[in-house]
Amino acid sequence: MSTTPERDMAAYWDRAGKVWVEQQGLLDRIYQPIARAVVEAADLRNGEAVLDVGCGSGATTFEAAWRVGPTGRAVGVDISPALVELARHRAGADGLEGVDFLHADAQTHAFTAEFDAVVSRFGVMFFPDPVVAFANLRSALKPGGRLAFACWRGPEDNAIATVPLEAAAPFLPEIPRFQKDAPGRFGFADPDRVRAILAESGWRDVVIDPLDDPTPVSADELLTMSLRVGPLNPILAGQDEAVREAVRDAVTRALASYVQDGVAAMNSACWLVTAKA
Ligand SMILES: C[S@@+](CC[C@H](N)C(=O)[O-])C[C@H]1O[C@@H](n2cnc3c(N)ncnc32)[C@H](O)[C@@H]1O
Repeated sequence: MSTTPERDMAAYWDRAGKVWVEQQGLLDRIYQPIARAVVEAADLRNGEAVLDVGCGSGATTFEAAWRVGPTGRAVGVDISPALVELARHRAGADGLEGVDFLHADAQTHAFTAEFDAVVSRFGVMFFPDPVVAFANLRSALKPGGRLAFACWRGPEDNAIATVPLEAAAPFLPEIPRFQKDAPGRFGFADPDRVRAILAESGWRDVVIDPLDDPTPVSADELLTMSLRVGPLNPILAGQDEAVREAVRDAVTRALASYVQDGVAAMNSACWLVTAKA
């Protein structure tokens, strides 16, 4: 079990959520195939009710809403106020019916057993106590309800995470270490850990398959993902302009080998996890 205090995760996502708001268009485009894969794995049917956990600005919730149709219901829950506000705004602008967003901590929120499925794209690896959180998510499901989520495989399979950090390291006092056994982006990289968490929190029929998303991005988008969305962002914010410039140059050089004719091929290596309540 991790000792990361809940308030630290909420504070982390209060800040990081604003970056995800800023980069919503890019993130939605890059990760759209992953939202589709998650929703397909949840096997949603017309008229069902689905809960999207750590919904961010709502891309997976919207994909799920489309699958359950006008007689169904899709609810997104997220701990970041900025992302929930954007998600509500997008739903309102599109005139979507049967879509709601809830600003809450999914680990502790008192859900009622009203959903047929729980889905998530990258929203379930951050719980300070994942066993408590996944037991809580199970309480949101009707008997026999389904779970489907995508999480990242290890940093060793995701060059987009490691290459920028390694390139920046010589210019910075320290760089973060990715952990596979603590809340965070790679907290569910170890499938045995995921299986143990799901078993302890009462899920059954757990299936974990690799999911790869090689969506092409431009060289500029790759740099934005590396410097704005990734863990370098908060570190660079505390550095002076010369250091930021040096890091930007080094990261650009390091990423060059992934770019051909202005297009970068960089795989998102994930797990697609399904289970039953
Ligand atoms: C990597 S982002 C993914 C966002 C969205 N699912 C997407 O794919 O665009 C992780 C999301 O999980 C949310 N999150 C983290 N911990 C949470 C918690 N305890 N309860 C609800 N949401 C949480 C964050 O605020 C953030 O929006």
